[in-house]
Amino acid sequence: MELGVSGTLLLAVLLSLVLYFFTWRRNLKKKNLPPGPPPLPLLGSLLDINTKEVHMSLMKLGETYGPVFTVYLSSTPAVVLIGYDCVKEALIDNGDVFSMRGHLEFTYLITKGYGVLITNGERWKQMRRFSLSTLRNFGMGKRSIEERIQEEARYITEEIEKIGGAPFDPTHLLTLFVSNIICFIVFGERFDYEDEKFMTILNLLKEMFLLMSSSLGMLINVFPKIISLLPGPHQKIFTNLKKLKYFVAESLENHKATLDPNCPRDLIDCFLVKMEEEKSNPITEFHFDNLFGTVLDLFFAGTETLSRTLQYGLIYLLKYPDVESKIHEEMDRVIGQNQCPSVEDRVQMPYTDAVIHEIQRFADIAPLGLPHKTGQDTTFRGYNIPKDTTVVTILASVLKDPKYFKNPKQFDPTNFLNDNGSFRKNESFTPFSLGKRSCVGESLARMELFLFFTTILQKFNLKSALAPEDIEITPEPNTNGVMPRTYEMYVTPR
Ligand code: HEM
Repeated sequence: MELGVSGTLLLAVLLSLVLYFFTWRRNLKKKNLPPGPPPLPLLGSLLDINTKEVHMSLMKLGETYGPVFTVYLSSTPAVVLIGYDCVKEALIDNGDVFSMRGHLEFTYLITKGYGVLITNGERWKQMRRFSLSTLRNFGMGKRSIEERIQEEARYITEEIEKIGGAPFDPTHLLTLFVSNIICFIVFGERFDYEDEKFMTILNLLKEMFLLMSSSLGMLINVFPKIISLLPGPHQKIFTNLKKLKYFVAESLENHKATLDPNCPRDLIDCFLVKMEEEKSNPITEFHFDNLFGTVLDLFFAGTETLSRTLQYGLIYLLKYPDVESKIHEEMDRVIGQNQCPSVEDRVQMPYTDAVIHEIQRFADIAPLGLPHKTGQDTTFRGYNIPKDTTVVTILASVLKDPKYFKNPKQFDPTNFLNDNGSFRKNESFTPFSLGKRSCVGESLARMELFLFFTTILQKFNLKSALAPEDIEITPEPNTNGVMPRTYEMYVTPR
């Protein structure tokens, strides 16, 4: 049979592709990377991963390939780590190798390589140290961060009182609460809930969040250069960024005019003090780009994470009214009805503390963590992992590790209680991740969670129009496990 020129050409191309495919696969084997599903040319492991439930697909692959395995994003390998023992071995025991931030294209487009979240090396070190010390030292100004959280929680209870006994979706109020705390830390002021500037900042951020999680946002992650140049709704991300930059720049100027270096009021003041200290250093990291990058990081990392945790927490309490009753009991005993809850009360409230830990464990709001990468060639559990390989730590598999939690898929505060009712630590409790790259806002977040729940529960009984057995507490499907379902609740005064 005659093939003709085009037929011969087609056959040659097909044969070359097949040959290339098998050579590529053989070379991969020689590299001794951790095992994994056989990748396809161009597609990599795409057919093995449901992009709407990535952590579930990866945990399923872990059942076949073990706790360390490789998947391919197109032709680029990424090593996936499952379970506490494995994640701890990488992030703590080999922290020097595994603590670099992996590539986050979208975030890179926004912060342009400045700030703390996506940076590495000296810039990351400086910005992380600065962020941690600023968040820790609060109280050096006139008012402590704890006082501000207490005050903000009281404003929220007032808003809820205004609603009366009518049903409401708590999402917006929770966003106001967590965003106002970050505003206080960064700008030194809280905003009224109707304040025009506050609403503008929140809307700009909200639009960016929505666009980031849309399919266009996902596309930007894959084809950043092309998509960011094309017209379309995603261009709003860049116009919004300009507006936010203007706010921060304007605030910086106002701060400069009123700065007292001996009494910094907020993060911007602290940054200005560092800028002044380092003004003769030509390679200083304390310049406007890093200030803006860090401010954006705190807003992005510190608002959605917390407000989603609070959203989940309230719905779990609606689902399990006996848990709420036990918190009420403990609170009446330790704090009473009139005293304002404070962080000091936590040690005397092991049940409430255990519930908050269980809320975070069960809510598991960052199931994939944030990507890391290796800082050098390394051998891990007998496999070779080259420098700059993306490493994905599945925090969902750590928070629900059956080796460390007796009923990992059930909401159960006794996971954090001893038989005598005292608080029990569990090393696999890692919602903030582990090691050098762990969450900068952990202590702030823990303070906010405790003060929010205690302030609200001191005042109210939480109610749902649905019977507890009809309340659905699992995340919205196909949102990569991160979006709580919307729900309505109402309250009665205690
Ligand atoms: C419930 C609340 C929160 C949770 C569950 C959470 C969780 C996380 C996780 C899983 C990471 C990635 C760690 C890693 O790469 O291994 C992270 C990083 C980070 N978080 Fe949080 N976070 C929360 C609240 C906050 C808050 C309130 C702030 C700041 C005000 C914040 C700021 C950051 C920053 C700046 C990083 C990057 C750290 C670095 O790259 O060195 N987070 N967080």
